[in-house]
Amino acid sequence: MIVEIFSCGPLHTNAFLIGCKDTGMAAVVDPAYQSFDPIMAKVEELSLTLEKVLLTHSHWDHIADVYDFKEKFGLPVYIHPLDIPNLEKPGVDGVPMFFPIKGVKPDVLLKEGQIIEVGQLSIEVIHTPGHSPGSVCFYVPKHGILLSGDTLFEGSIGNLSLSTSDPDSMWPSLEKLAKLPPETLVFPGHGNPTKIGKEAWLSKAKKKIWRNNMNLVGNKAPSFKAKAVCKDVIQEDFSLESLKGKYVVFFFYPLDFTFVCPTELHAFQEKLSEFEKRNAQVVGCSIDSHFSHHMWLNTPKNKGGIEGVSYPIVSDLSKSISTSYGVLKDDEGIAYRGLFLIDRDQVIRHQLINDLPLGRSVDEALRILDALIFHEKNGEVCPANWKKGSKSMKPSQEGLKDYFTNV
Ligand SMILES: [Fe+2]
Repeated sequence: MIVEIFSCGPLHTNAFLIGCKDTGMAAVVDPAYQSFDPIMAKVEELSLTLEKVLLTHSHWDHIADVYDFKEKFGLPVYIHPLDIPNLEKPGVDGVPMFFPIKGVKPDVLLKEGQIIEVGQLSIEVIHTPGHSPGSVCFYVPKHGILLSGDTLFEGSIGNLSLSTSDPDSMWPSLEKLAKLPPETLVFPGHGNPTKIGKEAWLSKAKKKIWRNNMNLVGNKAPSFKAKAVCKDVIQEDFSLESLKGKYVVFFFYPLDFTFVCPTELHAFQEKLSEFEKRNAQVVGCSIDSHFSHHMWLNTPKNKGGIEGVSYPIVSDLSKSISTSYGVLKDDEGIAYRGLFLIDRDQVIRHQLINDLPLGRSVDEALRILDALIFHEKNGEVCPANWKKGSKSMKPSQEGLKDYFTNV
């Protein structure tokens, strides 16, 4: 099988010429910007006959030269129906284009499992929505080759923050690719080739990628209902909703009966009245059971316990809360030291995640809470190292100037 790669255009998009060695029949895959001339030079050099144009998806950088192939040679264009609109009218998908390009009408509509022949090559269509709804990969099982478009890259995946993207459909798509033989050689739409077996993270991409990129600031705090222990009382269905109208300092710690954790829990207890004065509820959480929390709460400080702690400690035995807050450490099944400041409308306004050996500063948690309260009351913003009582700033050029001349 012939596979020639042409990295073209401002985004270094990979266009491909694939062909059957026995018959000399060939297809263009993703004719990127200015790929026409080099592809045609190679077609001539190898004495190939072009049959068709296959598109992994319709983002402008993958279809920029499709017009030339279709108009000059009348080659039929193959695409999944869900990606037609941007092929016909480039730019309508809302993905910013660097320059105008010409659209074409498709000729053959692709679907999952369809087999496309190029000479004696049999190419299987794998529908892999996520980066765009009509994204497909082209798989040639006989030669162990996959053209993955912008679904899978070496060590990474296609952009999920575009107007066409849908993370929820990306994960099943990647799981499909993870099931291909490990020796499958992958040619992505950008960057270097790789192998399925080299991308060991693929089968758990959702956990690895989604969670590692999780920023919850500005989002509604994930709600939960779970068992919690407050002093000596076990609450069966403690919920975040029940704290609406209060600020919540919600912190995760790795495990009961360990070493850094009790110092943190006592440190929050020592300043609890400061939080209460500010209408803030401190809530701790770990993946331990409520029995373990209860036992730990009844163990004195000098024996490593947290006796005297009076704020609620949530039991996240199912690990669903630490998962939804993006703090679960997969390999150990415990939570990182995550801290979330949740406002009175239950929107997360601050998050901090420390690795296991790094204890947090309760003073810093209080300082951030003060900054939020100050901002909500006065509308002014809090510059670097701001502390309650120190100078704030109007959020404007003038305000900044005034700040710098007066500090
Ligand atoms: Fe793309």
